[in-house]
Amino acid sequence: MQNIVIFASGAGSNAENIIRYFKNNTKKSVVAVFSNNANAKVIEKAKNLDVQTIVFNKDELYGDFVLKNLKELNPDLIVLAGFLLKFPEHIIIEYPNKIINIHPALLPKYGGKGMYGKHVHQAVLDNKENETGITIHYVNEQFDEGRIIFQKPTSISNCSTPEEIANKVHELEQRFFPEVIDQLLNS
Ligand code: GAR
Repeated sequence: MQNIVIFASGAGSNAENIIRYFKNNTKKSVVAVFSNNANAKVIEKAKNLDVQTIVFNKDELYGDFVLKNLKELNPDLIVLAGFLLKFPEHIIIEYPNKIINIHPALLPKYGGKGMYGKHVHQAVLDNKENETGITIHYVNEQFDEGRIIFQKPTSISNCSTPEEIANKVHELEQRFFPEVIDQLLNS
């Protein structure tokens, strides 16, 4: 069995979609959802789908607690799906090429500290871009700068609000993120 671990901080639409995608897979399984927010919707979603949840605070993330729990789960892939804290260096070192993130724009544009969720879509709108998209990339010590694995653009020429852009991005995330995870685990 190949073990997938998800880190998420918020609504968890990606986490839920990934869990469902692998639900009946006999070779790959989502074994846990880690979150820094006990009240995040992702916790409830994971529990409803019978996936173990592990909640931690910042000290536990940058200290021993999270890494200790990860080691017990023996992850083949760690997936950041709407995880908003900086991923700690001591965990990145422990899992080379095994930690990936999804970003709701076409990196290197609209990445970096503070660029998450609606802030990204607002910036894209403000700059009158005709397209945006998703980027799936490896996680390194810098926000949104690790090697790019996959990108998919989408036209937003008829979008006039950040919510409309978010919807188009979510469509791409739902369609492609689980498939990319599946392919990475096959390679
Ligand atoms: C997703 O759109 C994801 O791409 C984005 O947060 C959203 C989480 O939604 N991630 C970032 O902005 C990271 N910089 P979800 O909780 O419903 O999956």
